[in-house]
Amino acid sequence: MLAERVAADEAGYTRPFVRDPGRALNIGLLGMGVVGTGLIQALHAKTALLQPRVGCPVRVKSVLVRDLDKPRGFQVARGLLTTRPEDVLNDPEVDIVVEVMGGEHPALEYILAAIEVGKHVVTANKEVVARHGREILARAHHHGVQVRFEASVAGGVPIVAPLLRDLAANEITSIRGIVNGTTNYILSRMAQQGLECGEALAEAQRLGYAEADPAKDVGGMDAACKLSILCALVFGVWTKDLEMHRQGINGLARRDLECARELGYAVKLMASAKKVGGVVYSGVYPAFVPEGSAIAQVDGVLNAVEVETDLAGPLLFTGQGAGPSPTASALIADIMDVALGTKLSTKAMRGALHGEAAKVGRMADLEAEHYLRLVVADRPQRLTEVRRRLSDHGVESSFAMFRELPQSDSKVEVVVMTRRAKLASVQQALSAMQKAGAVLEVGNVCRVEEAR
Ligand SMILES: NC(=O)c1ccc[n+]([C@@H]2O[C@H](COP(=O)([O-])OP(=O)(O)OC[C@H]3O[C@@H](n4cnc5c(N)ncnc54)[C@H](OP(=O)(O)O)[C@@H]3O)[C@@H](O)[C@H]2O)c1
Repeated sequence: MLAERVAADEAGYTRPFVRDPGRALNIGLLGMGVVGTGLIQALHAKTALLQPRVGCPVRVKSVLVRDLDKPRGFQVARGLLTTRPEDVLNDPEVDIVVEVMGGEHPALEYILAAIEVGKHVVTANKEVVARHGREILARAHHHGVQVRFEASVAGGVPIVAPLLRDLAANEITSIRGIVNGTTNYILSRMAQQGLECGEALAEAQRLGYAEADPAKDVGGMDAACKLSILCALVFGVWTKDLEMHRQGINGLARRDLECARELGYAVKLMASAKKVGGVVYSGVYPAFVPEGSAIAQVDGVLNAVEVETDLAGPLLFTGQGAGPSPTASALIADIMDVALGTKLSTKAMRGALHGEAAKVGRMADLEAEHYLRLVVADRPQRLTEVRRRLSDHGVESSFAMFRELPQSDSKVEVVVMTRRAKLASVQQALSAMQKAGAVLEVGNVCRVEEAR
């Protein structure tokens, strides 16, 4: 075993950074948008702090952009900017390529090209790591370079290095959290101000907390990429974000958040993965979270990741999941680790090199309590009928209430909290009830998270 590890080290993916004495550590930057600019600014502001810690000056040698004439948030020498990727990737003086351009392509090709010529890579790109992490890590291993991606999950919140280094002695059975600040802001405003999802989204866009095209955030794709990376780190399983169980927040109504509050819950977009009986279940979904739990208190644009470990117990990592300065903090930590040759013991590395370590199950087959909001015909025994029909499909309920619907004397709203059941069974029951006319409309179905 030790021989194997020594061989892996000799093969070099943890090879310390080597440079001529007296030379600066040169960074080739791919992208100078929000994050790239934040990184340049932070490196500039932290020169005095970083130089003694790294052992030499850290400087940005070249920066790839699309448009040389675009105004930048921080003044850099014109000669630093280029639109030719080879100026960065083939520059023998560039030691570390920092990829902060985003998107899947051509970022992937540039990362692979950098690895191919023996450069270390630091990236903030969740899409590329989630979808191509296995290949990237295998190639990095082959070429004896490091690829680091702390900034790709939860921005400024350190989670990748803690999972791989500080918690390396632990068995982790579950990891869950809020990894998308935009949706957390929207849900917080819906809860606090009684806004509908669209109204809260428009406010988030006005304040710069949401992109002009927010589809990836509200649809849960962004969170799924981050969860995919966490799953690989914790369980050695690469689950493609696009194949993951994923439900965004766009189907949530103000009424769902009102119901949650009345029942003692907050609503959060959860990214959750757990291992049960050797099978890994992962998914992104709006969840009812018990009001008193730590994760329910995480409001606004903040992120939080909760980890269940056997030795260290439950841990909560929380803070700013995006923004130029928090993301620069994570990028610089990775840059310093690479410069100092600091190694991470990576399950992801093992997963990348030796294949999947665990089976993957369908989230719909993992039992949980569920919240159901339904519209049914207003007739005698409506609650009893809904509960009986759910029970016919093996879904028992612990609570049910009905409410008159404004502007309708023929329909009522029924809210049900189920006992533990598979989502698949709940969905089967609801579609049978709709077919039989017992349910006119399914307002929403949300998973209820266990209190921790
Ligand atoms: N924003 C955050 O708070 C945050 C937090 C954590 C992680 N991230 C991740 O960090 C990455 C960058 O995000 P960002 O918000 O900084 O993006 P951004 O503001 O859109 O900046 C992208 C930069 O990359 C350049 N670029 C894009 N495609 C290019 C191409 N094909 N060739 C050359 N240059 C190209 C752009 O050049 P021009 O300026 O000339 O257009 C721009 O400078 C993404 O992967 C994102 O998911 C972002």
